[in-house]
Amino acid sequence: MIFRQLFDSTSSTYSYLLASRHGGEALIIDPVLERVDRYIQLLRELDLRLVKAIDTHLHADHITGLPALRERTRCITVMGEQTKADVVSIRVSEGDHVDIEGVSLKVLYTPGHTDDSYSFLMADRVFTGDTLLIRGTGRTDFQNGDPQAQYDSIFGKLLKLPDETFVYPAHDYKGDTVSTIGEERAFNPRLQVKSAADYIALMNNLNLPNPKMMDVAVPSNMRVGLAQDIVAEKGWALSPEQLRDLLEQGRVALIDLREDQERSKHGIIPGALHIPYPHLGPELEPGGHLQQLALAGRKELVFYCAYGERSAMAVQAAHKAGLAAARHLQGGLAAWKTAGEPIAQ
Ligand SMILES: [Fe+2]
Repeated sequence: MIFRQLFDSTSSTYSYLLASRHGGEALIIDPVLERVDRYIQLLRELDLRLVKAIDTHLHADHITGLPALRERTRCITVMGEQTKADVVSIRVSEGDHVDIEGVSLKVLYTPGHTDDSYSFLMADRVFTGDTLLIRGTGRTDFQNGDPQAQYDSIFGKLLKLPDETFVYPAHDYKGDTVSTIGEERAFNPRLQVKSAADYIALMNNLNLPNPKMMDVAVPSNMRVGLAQDIVAEKGWALSPEQLRDLLEQGRVALIDLREDQERSKHGIIPGALHIPYPHLGPELEPGGHLQQLALAGRKELVFYCAYGERSAMAVQAAHKAGLAAARHLQGGLAAWKTAGEPIAQ
């Protein structure tokens, strides 16, 4: 197991790099834009391939490294389904899993600090974002924060985990690096309340100033630019109606880039092949499945995913590999459903 806790001293943010082995897939939680060079260097040094980057919530105190990492490593970006950020490839909800090779994180919806706050549980440790901090809790007075929801998230979910579970938060301002659930229950001053009403009163009377970065970070973290815009400008995007027509003419090999969990939860476009996005690379190479389909089979490749983010990156990769006829479904399965096109289970 490879586990690195990385620190951004400007915003006191912790980021976490996880992988099961050298030479394998990696995942990062809450990366910070200014530290992206360091992450890339570390990935290279540890011989890791970044496959997923998660933000626990929309941050107000720093600019996320998600888009820069996506740009440089072609990784999948992950946030909760409530997020207002546009860069997100996979939107998760309670009970989902975020998996890479040898590592599985269980998704816990823990709103309160924001309405898009999630925690991620991995065996003996939980990444709590700004929901539960070491001897503190995330403020609840902006970004749809809600002290009642936070009370429920902490007392109803996080404190139900075994006492020995390690707590890894998104920030610490005092230099602590890790705690446990048992320790926080016993010693976190915010949690020594008798009722939800007490907790709400406590949180509503903190009177904190807004974070210095807030006016910059929040809008920037919501609008991080889409690979989809670039792909559409080049004429490589299809509307649901255009895709339906092409499918009816039978000239298209349609490729679903999503994961099994997303396919069973949201359904599939009938007739699609399945190649999860992290496994796409070799298929586009000479001798790969998709090269053969496109060249020998004279099929036009059309990629789709949940929202069009992964498929836009796939189209760029296909064109780079010389497959000039590759396009994608703009807006992904979400747009397909909105247009009333058929879904299979
Ligand atoms: Fe936060």
